[in-house]
Amino acid sequence: MPGLTIGDTLPDLVVETTHGKIKLHDYVDNAFTIIFSHPGDFTPVCTTELGMMAAYADKFAERGVKLLGLSADDVESHNEWIKDIEACNKGSKVTYPIAADPDRRIIKQLNMVDPDEKDSSGQQLPSRGLHIVGPDKKIKLSFLYPASTGRNMDEVVRVLDSLQRASKHKIATPANWKPGDKVVISPSVSSDEAKQMFPQGYDAVELPSNKDYLRFTNVD
Ligand code: BEZ
Repeated sequence: MPGLTIGDTLPDLVVETTHGKIKLHDYVDNAFTIIFSHPGDFTPVCTTELGMMAAYADKFAERGVKLLGLSADDVESHNEWIKDIEACNKGSKVTYPIAADPDRRIIKQLNMVDPDEKDSSGQQLPSRGLHIVGPDKKIKLSFLYPASTGRNMDEVVRVLDSLQRASKHKIATPANWKPGDKVVISPSVSSDEAKQMFPQGYDAVELPSNKDYLRFTNVD
């Protein structure tokens, strides 16, 4: 059976965190939420990633997005490690909760296990997993990176901007899109519907097929 993936509902688990017990659906409430796992506390790449998440916290807050970190270590370890994260990331405070998963219950249910990484006692470790959960509690996007590759938080912000626009309009964002660039009208929208839905107008690219599917427009 494949693990949790795009379109699935986030399991409503109760998790122990540095901010106390959290029930995942209550935490998401009505907000886009990023749940991101890392292989372990007191490891170099993870320290840079959680520090960068702290440094980007304002960007996520501006977008109404909540954050939840996760690793297999316990809450006591997380609280000690936060001091290191803050010390080596120019004073950015870790204001988001970090969940603990000593028995690996959460990483299995959230499909965040790294099959290649084990701790010194042979227990499974989390990958660098990241789910963006929508206000409807469904998984909208997932990343799965190995322990050796730290994530790019600019890319996390970029995909959030894409997801949030696509949740408001019948559009999609093309390759290498960034905010301010034109978006494309979804293929499910007919030309007549497009005229109604996008009164600001759109440009249809002339193609050898004569098919009218590559239509660029602007949305906020
Ligand atoms: C790191 O965060 O640097 C790391 C963690 C586990 C395995 C390899 C690297």
